[in-house]
Parts: sequence; structure tokens; C-alpha cells
Amino acid sequence: MSSTRRVFIQQSLAITTPLIVGSSALSANAPSNRINVAFIGTGNQGMGLLKRFLAADLGNVLAVCDVNEGSFGYKDPEHFYGKLPAKKLVDEVTAKKSKSGTSNSCTAYSDFREVLKRDDIDAVIVVVPDHWHRIISVMALESGKDVYCEKPMTFAVSDGPIMIEAVRKNKRILQNGSHERSNPVSQFICEAAKAGKIGDIKKVITKIGYNNKVGPGPGWSPMPVPKNLDYREWLGPAPEQPYHDDRCLYRFRFNFDYSGGQITNFGAHCNDMAHWGMNVDTGGPIEVECLDAKYLPTGSLFNTATETRFRCLYENGVELICESGPEQVQTRFEGTDGWLQTGYKGTTASDPSLLKGLPEKPTGTADPHTAHMANFIDCVKSRNEPRAPVEIGHASAVLCHIANAMIRLFPETGPGTIAKWDAKSERFTNNERANQMLIREERDPWS
Ligand SMILES: NC(=O)c1ccc[n+]([C@@H]2O[C@H](COP(=O)([O-])OP(=O)(O)OC[C@H]3O[C@@H](n4cnc5c(N)ncnc54)[C@H](O)[C@@H]3O)[C@@H](O)[C@H]2O)c1
Repeated sequence: MSSTRRVFIQQSLAITTPLIVGSSALSANAPSNRINVAFIGTGNQGMGLLKRFLAADLGNVLAVCDVNEGSFGYKDPEHFYGKLPAKKLVDEVTAKKSKSGTSNSCTAYSDFREVLKRDDIDAVIVVVPDHWHRIISVMALESGKDVYCEKPMTFAVSDGPIMIEAVRKNKRILQNGSHERSNPVSQFICEAAKAGKIGDIKKVITKIGYNNKVGPGPGWSPMPVPKNLDYREWLGPAPEQPYHDDRCLYRFRFNFDYSGGQITNFGAHCNDMAHWGMNVDTGGPIEVECLDAKYLPTGSLFNTATETRFRCLYENGVELICESGPEQVQTRFEGTDGWLQTGYKGTTASDPSLLKGLPEKPTGTADPHTAHMANFIDCVKSRNEPRAPVEIGHASAVLCHIANAMIRLFPETGPGTIAKWDAKSERFTNNERANQMLIREERDPWS
């Protein structure tokens, strides 16, 4: 059984004087210590993570799973992803390694439940659209697997407590895919802000990118479902809807039935970093106000906000402004003694001395995605807490979901509607319409 394998791995790591087992067999990558994983969802991000996982040789990939057999039509036209391309990649890489004794065979699945039945798989890397995150993760945790679940960890506020309970009750490891937690540059900036290097933090500004795709406008026509895609399983718990290419692969993030737009996509990263630097990792705001929101015309397939600006207030008086903008800035902390700012194109500060000791942005097998998965694999072996545990994943996703509730109401309310949020009960206390915006209906049997 998987748990037996895990106990064996933990025990062999705990041996300090290897009398019978040679030291090479106890190294991190020794065959006996290797973790068996399955990748569930092998699209844009899943394939990227899979390539990195294999390049860094983090474990054995025994299974890949996707409801798409394999097709173009992901983020870029030349990307060909899905179940079979993923298996091909694993087979090619492991064949090259077979001489070193680390080869394994990889099976391709369309139904994640088949993967979860396997006792020899220790952990799953869940890289499916957001509307599937909780369901697949919880079923994996219940079947004894550790889980790496991509960000935003949840699709709805109510997913979080269910996922937390599944992790804690089953004594499993869950790493949320907020890989900035494993980026030494982000660590430096957020830890500096947290340590008071710029005095008391007064304001945090976070930026989310503009939409990089435009779906069809009002009156769009449904398309035939491609043969390679099990559309029914792709929809899963989401409402029955006619098929269109722009609904599914990669573009799902712009449709509210499956995601929350750039608010949850980019927002899960930059707002998680905000919470980190503000030292409210598992907390949340007390007030949320949408300052601006723009949408495509009603009836467009993409129905999440194309641009927005919102404000949150925290109990200690810190104000967080999150806004659409160029991606140069991710998170900017403004304190009583200066400011620190991190972004995709560089890190800056009010005083260069604040950046003394700033590490280089890591690349190759040290890049943050790989480092984040490596941290997960280390924790699967050691049973220590990972860098982005389930409670942190929940809190940063909640911030994005409650902002989205107000952003969705913005066309009705306009600016100036301040919703009071109670982080304990996870409800708005003065705005029932906003609470209704948090409800996500799910189709049976997934509800
Ligand atoms: N950490 C990051 O920086 C980062 C970057 C990109 C995406 N992501 C996250 O990764 C997730 C996936 O995004 P993406 O861009 O890879 O999307 P994508 O559409 O390119 O890939 C998702 C894949 O999941 C498959 N899938 C859907 N339902 C499935 C099911 N029930 N079982 C198995 N496979 C299923 C799809 O067919 C598709 O191939 C999202 O939650 C996204 O937020 C994270």
C-alpha cells in the first residue's frame, strides 16, 4: 500500500548509520527513496511542471491523466498538450535515464479516479482548471495521496474548509502551487517587509495582468466537440453549456463557470505575497470595495472582468489596492520608512541598501516552479509542512473570491459600496447580495 511505501521511505531516511544499505541507496534520489507521482491535468501548466519535474528528477512519474487525448489549442498555437503528449514526454525522458536504474513505466489515464485507485502512487500533482481543484484534491487526499494543487487553490470560498479538513484529518501533505513562496527573490522582499525593514506597512499595491485572449462576442455559435476531448468530464461539476474552443483549454480562466479571471489567476500570486509580507498568511481583510470593473458586452463567452481595481482594508489599518496593469509590478509594500517592490521584470526599493543581499532570480532546475515541487517532494518524505500549506492557499484564494463578488456586483452598484467581511464566519456581514455571489452550484455527482 501507498502508506506502507511512505513509512518505508521515512524509515530509510531516518537511518543514520547505514550498515547494510549503502549510502548511495539513502541519497535523496536513491530508488528506494523515490516518490511515485501522477500528473492530473497535462495542459499549459501541467506540461510545464511535468518537464521541470523530469528535468530535476524529483521522482517517478507513474501516471499522467487528462480528459484531452492530445491537441493544439492551448495558450500558444504551437503547443500540443494533453494525455498522450505527456506520456510520450515521460517515456522519452525515462528511456534516456534507464541506464541509471531510475526508469519506470508511465500509464496514461482519462479518468482521475483510476489514478487514485493505484496503491503505488504516493502523490498527485493537480493541474486542472479551478472548478475541479477541490474535488480531485479531496478525493486524492481521502485515498491516501499527498497533493500538490495548483493556485488558486479553491474555486469557491466554501472549498477551503473542506480541503483543510481533508488534509488534516487524513494527515496528508498539501502544497498549494503558489510557487512565489519558493522564489528566493520573493522570499527576500516579503520577509524584509514582514521583518519591518520599511517600518510599519501602511499600504500594499498588487497588480494583475490584462487578459491575453479575447473570446467570441454576443451571439457566438457553438462548435462541435472535438473527438480528442471528453467534454462531459471536462465540464464535470460545472453547468451544462454548449461547446466552444474558447471555453475550455487555457481560456477557461476567463469564464466565471470555471475560474475567476485574472483576479484569481494573477491575483492568487500577488495577493498571496501581499499577505506574506503583511504577516497575515492565514488572515483576511475586514472590508472589500470594488473601485472599478470593466466587462466585455453581455453575452460574450468571456464573462469575468477584463480590468478592475479593488481595495481591501485589514484590521491593523493596512490598505491593499489590487489593480489591472502592466505586469512589471507584482507586489509593492509601502511602509513608514520606505518601500519595496517586486515584479516580473525586477525588484526595486526606496533605498538600494534595502536590497543588499538580494539573491539572483533562479533559473534552470532551481527555478521557482521546480523548487516549489522539490519542497513538496521533500515534505512528502519528511512529513514536514510545505511552504504553501492548505491554510495559506485558502486565505489567499478567499481574498480573490471576495473581491470577485464585489467586482461582479459593480455594474449594479458602481463605486462606493463597502462590504464588511468576517474572516471567521467567512461571510459578508452587511451585504447579502455579495454572499450570494460566493455560491457556486455544482452538478451531481460532484456536489
Ligand atoms: N503556478 C502558476 O504560475 C500557474 C500558471 C498557469 C496555470 N496555473 C494553474 O494551473 C491550472 C491549469 O491551468 P492551465 O493553464 O494549465 O490550463 P489548461 O487548460 O492549459 O490545462 C488544464 C488541463 O486539465 C485537463 N482537464 C480538465 N478537466 C480534467 C479532469 N477532470 N481530469 C483530468 N484532466 C482534466 C484539460 O483537458 C487540460 O489539458 C489552473 O488552476 C491555473 O490557475 C498555475
